[in-house]
Amino acid sequence: MSQTNQSDPSSPVRFALVGCGSIAKTQIKALQELTPEVELAYICDRVPERSAELAREFSVGSVSFEEACANPDVDAVTFCTPSGIHAGQAIEALRSGKHVIVEKPMDVTVAACEKLKAVAESSGLQFSVISQHRFDPSSQKVREAIGSGKFGDLIFAEARIPWYRTQEYYDSGDWRGTWELDGGGCLMNQGIHTVDLMLWLAGKAKRVFARMKTVAHERIEVEDLISVQVEFESGMMGSLVASTALYPGYPVSLGLFGTSGSAMIVGDELETFAVRGEETIRGKGSNAHALQVATGGTRSATAEADKSKKDEWNWGDAHREQLKEFVSCIRSGAEPTVSAADGLNAVSFIQSCYESARSGDWVDVV
Ligand SMILES: NC(=O)c1ccc[n+]([C@@H]2O[C@H](COP(=O)([O-])OP(=O)(O)OC[C@H]3O[C@@H](n4cnc5c(N)ncnc54)[C@H](O)[C@@H]3O)[C@@H](O)[C@H]2O)c1
Repeated sequence: MSQTNQSDPSSPVRFALVGCGSIAKTQIKALQELTPEVELAYICDRVPERSAELAREFSVGSVSFEEACANPDVDAVTFCTPSGIHAGQAIEALRSGKHVIVEKPMDVTVAACEKLKAVAESSGLQFSVISQHRFDPSSQKVREAIGSGKFGDLIFAEARIPWYRTQEYYDSGDWRGTWELDGGGCLMNQGIHTVDLMLWLAGKAKRVFARMKTVAHERIEVEDLISVQVEFESGMMGSLVASTALYPGYPVSLGLFGTSGSAMIVGDELETFAVRGEETIRGKGSNAHALQVATGGTRSATAEADKSKKDEWNWGDAHREQLKEFVSCIRSGAEPTVSAADGLNAVSFIQSCYESARSGDWVDVV
């Protein structure tokens, strides 16, 4: 068990980060921005040269994962490792007395996520899964509008992830594009952000009907194109398309449509916010400003360009906000916004889509 006094805000929560690949720098910067609340003490990688190099760049220690788990000065571990090893590593860290946050997806199978959920919930420690777009101001604004009934009854959700990834992307890591470690293709790896947002905003899905193919890549086992019809527990309908094959790639979008209002999030920005009887807000700008516009009146896209940099919502900010909340939950004991159940729910939805595509039938989401 760690020795830091986590309820004392003057004592930083000490983190170790495991997995020094593409997402690691985003998390390292986010954690270092949270100084003095947080201290990133160590980073680890299966390949010691990788952690040593990043450790030099960011002036932190480099140790093995086992050493981080055994070190009583480490309070929390964040995992940026391949998706299919998240549960095994997270369970090891929880059993060593560390609070744990794992990158999305929680793991790649329902069974692994259920096991991790059980260990996390009985540990007395904090656990969460990165799903940083819940922390975008646009997502928060839409969640608030739905929760307060402004949109009336939700009647339709539409999620589009029309992305493109090169063959080199899939060739860049031996785990990418494999069922065992990536857990799937464009839906499990890329689409899960929008799946989680959709389920968080629209509620639990009841059943899905999916079709999937591999249309534009070689040497991958998984889908690069999937189309899904969704029935939610509320009775509302939904539609989802995800891909990494649609050259050159288009912005991700999520539309939530209700009987008295709707919103369209494009990228991480609030593109349209409409409530019957109120002025409809259309326009594009920084995420933070889109939020301000949504509550204050219509502005054009060009007017947004004049906003000062401090108002912009940049890549990495949402990671920082989620990690900040996680640290505050470590101190207060409150439940993080993204729970173990939420992490499991997203993986369960995606696995049901794959099962439907394989069987050709509707599949209940459990
Ligand atoms: N939240 C986001 O927006 C976002 C973006 C990208 C990736 N991710 C997630 O982050 C995770 C990592 O993705 P990536 O693109 O950074 O992968 P990557 O392949 O670039 O990096 C993975 C790193 O983990 C290391 N590693 C592998 N096995 C290990 C082990 N047993 N112990 C310690 N280190 C080990 C590898 O050497 C490598 O450095 C994935 O789960 C992915 O889904 C999230």
